[in-house]
This record gives sequence, structure tokens and C-alpha cells, in this order.
Amino acid sequence: MELFETMIQHTSVRSFTDQKLSVNLQEQLVLAAQSASSSNFLQAYSLIQITDTVKRRAIETIAKFPVDNGTNGQLYIFVADLNKHAQVLQQQDLSIEHLRTLESLVVAIVDTALAAQSMAVYAESIELGVCYVGGIRNDLVKMKELLDLPEFTYPVFGLFVGYPAEKNEVKPRLPITAILNTNTYHPFTPAMLADYDKRTTAYYLERNTNTQITSWSEKVRQHFAQARRSNTIDFLKKQGFVF
Ligand SMILES: Cc1cc2nc3c(=O)[nH]c(=O)nc-3n(C[C@H](O)[C@H](O)[C@H](O)COP(=O)(O)O)c2cc1C
Repeated sequence: MELFETMIQHTSVRSFTDQKLSVNLQEQLVLAAQSASSSNFLQAYSLIQITDTVKRRAIETIAKFPVDNGTNGQLYIFVADLNKHAQVLQQQDLSIEHLRTLESLVVAIVDTALAAQSMAVYAESIELGVCYVGGIRNDLVKMKELLDLPEFTYPVFGLFVGYPAEKNEVKPRLPITAILNTNTYHPFTPAMLADYDKRTTAYYLERNTNTQITSWSEKVRQHFAQARRSNTIDFLKKQGFVF
């Protein structure tokens, strides 16, 4: 399939066959991730592939995201990583103060996300399935313990990659007019929302699995009904960042 076609057919895959990714393929996936652009070429991320089934179960429990029998698909944890940069500076007896800023953290998180999405796009281009797992941030302290994460690191999400056992229908995205502006920002209008809610309500009602009576605005309302992961800031402070 042409890459564009593959991209617009994207759906998250949450169930994989027991076919393993070959060593060569795993290497290609990591190279694809590494080939992403990187802010100031800092390459401020690390990947941790989880092959230990006990660790994987512990991570899936944290994420409330059990995948098949705990072995199908390969799980990578994407970590925003400025620890390497701390080492570079410390080896030269230089101050690490500027690593501690929100801007440095943003740079590292963006680099991490770009690397992950490069891996994801490559994976889907060869008919593998992927699913991000932000749920790993449900217990950052446990994740730190499980992965021995040092200062100046932050586990951003997991990414499952594997041979799809099943695929969902494509979720309708916001209308292009709601996300593409020309020369200046245009607010999202009630008419756009009403139209999108109609489309998403139909999608949730008619999809093959897990049908629901809901809409995009209802999902947004539920998501922001309570503060989420409000201990993130304490975790990040302990990891060396200053806000
Ligand atoms: C950073 C990030 C974190 C995510 N975390 C989870 C997760 O913890 N559990 C899950 O089931 N899906 C997770 N997803 C998948 C989204 O729910 C999914 O991408 C979204 O609903 C759109 O559906 P689609 O990918 O099938 O088009 C995550 C996606 C992203 C980008």
C-alpha cells in the first residue's frame, strides 16, 4: 500500500499474533526511530525494549493495558532522556543547571515523541500494528523502580509493535477546517463541533467492537472531569527538573 494510504488507514492495534519480530526488523524499527529530526541534535531520548515477561506484566498492570497473553507484540518504553547530556556536561566540569528547565524537558519530550512516531509510521508501512501506552505514567515511581531510571529521565509512553491479530475501524478525525488555519488562528466553532459530534456518535454506535453511546465532546468532558496524574510534577522535580 502506498505510504499515504497506510497513514490515513491508521488505527491503534491492541491485540497481536504470536509471530515474533525478527532481529533484523527490530533493528530497522530502532533505526527508523533514530532517524527522526531532533531538536539541536540533542537526541534526548532512550528506548527500553521489554523482553522480561514479569516486568512486562508489571508495566501492563500499571498501564491497565493487558495485551494478549503478555508476550505477543514487542513493547518499547520511550524515555525522555537528558541524563546523557548531564554526563557530557559533568565530564567537563560544567554546570547542569540549564538541563533542569521546563524548556529542556519539552525538548526531550518532543524528541521522544518524534522518534516514537517515526518507529510507528515505519512499522505500519510494513503492515505491523502499533499502540501507544500513556498509561505507563499511572505510576511513575514504580516505572522508575522497574526500569532503574536515573535523574533527568521521564518515561513518556510505551509503544507496542507487532503483527495485528485484529484491527478496529478508522476513527474519524476532526474536520480539516478545525485544525488547518491560514495565516491566523481561527477558533473551533459550535457548528464544527456539532457536525463532528454527529460523525463521532455514528462511529461509536456502528463500530464492530465496544460500541458506545457517546461523542467526541462527551469524551473530552469525561477526560477533563478530574485532574489526572497530578503527581507528575513531584516526580519530575525528584528527577532533577525545576519549575
Ligand atoms: C501518547 C499516547 C498515549 C496513548 N495511551 C494509550 C493507552 O494508555 N491505552 C490505550 O488503549 N490507548 C492509548 N493511546 C491510543 C489512543 O487512544 C488512540 O491513538 C486514539 O484513541 C485514536 O485512535 P486510533 O489510534 O485508533 O486512531 C495513546 C495514544 C497516544 C498518542
